[in-house]
Amino acid sequence: MTLLAIENLSKRFSSGGRAVAAVGDVSLTLEPGETLGLVGASGSGKSTLARILMRLLPADAGSIRFEGEDWLSLSGTDLRRHRARMQMVFQDVLGAFNPRATVASVLDDPLRIHDIVPKAGRAQEIAALLDRVGLPASYAGRSIREVSGGQRQRIAIARAIATKPSLIVLDEAVSALDVSIRGRILELLVELQEERGISYLFVSHDLAVLRAVSHRIAVMEAGRLVETGPMRQVIENPQSPAAKALVNAVPRLVTQPTEGPFHDV
Ligand SMILES: Nc1ncnc2c1ncn2[C@@H]1O[C@H](COP(=O)(O)OP(=O)(O)O)[C@@H](O)[C@H]1O
Ligand SMILES: [Mg+2]
Repeated sequence: MTLLAIENLSKRFSSGGRAVAAVGDVSLTLEPGETLGLVGASGSGKSTLARILMRLLPADAGSIRFEGEDWLSLSGTDLRRHRARMQMVFQDVLGAFNPRATVASVLDDPLRIHDIVPKAGRAQEIAALLDRVGLPASYAGRSIREVSGGQRQRIAIARAIATKPSLIVLDEAVSALDVSIRGRILELLVELQEERGISYLFVSHDLAVLRAVSHRIAVMEAGRLVETGPMRQVIENPQSPAAKALVNAVPRLVTQPTEGPFHDV
């Protein structure tokens, strides 16, 4: 069964008397265990789409089916119950947190809120989550400001997988990281996907990142979806001007072997 089906989604903003169609009539689907790379220039509407999906922002029009639910009409306890199944990793999700918060409290929140593990088992679960993302259990006692950007993204990933989601939305999740650290984070994400069958909506302005993880790529331009196809097809034979410009923006993108998700990062 299709995990996620977005249909005719639209969102306008008005700023300074000018209306912007941030998302215009976008439809897309995502299958279980699949990574859809959502690419587009800055301002093309990617984050707006991600925020609507996460129910952080209401849509003007359109519908979303997620795990068979009419996602945009869920509310109250129904929404809270299903929320655990869709998680998000931002560019710096933990930068928004109290910098004195400990790593343990950041990971404890989803476990407690979604009642994933009883209180007595949470310290052990937090240690297991840290271990799974490649961090020592001793990191639980550190404050968020004491960890590096790459480690912080590992913690953000641990937090996202804590509730056993079927979908993780990643919005520029590795964009702020050095290339070497970025590669290892992408590797971790692909491992977690293979292990748990998680689907990713992977939002990035950078096709080099998406090439490493995506099964399919969808291209946005000025709020519209202008091209969707298998990763290799979009990168090696882009059809739309927007896709061509994004491919040309990455030197040597098409001359490197593209063996499918991740094989050569
Ligand atoms: N809260 C907002 N108020 C007004 N305009 C917004 C708001 N959020 C985004 N926009 C506008 O919507 C468009 C899409 O933005 P965004 O979704 O952030 O694009 P992307 O993530 O692809 O860079 C841009 O023109 C942006 O200026
Ligand atoms: Mg954005």
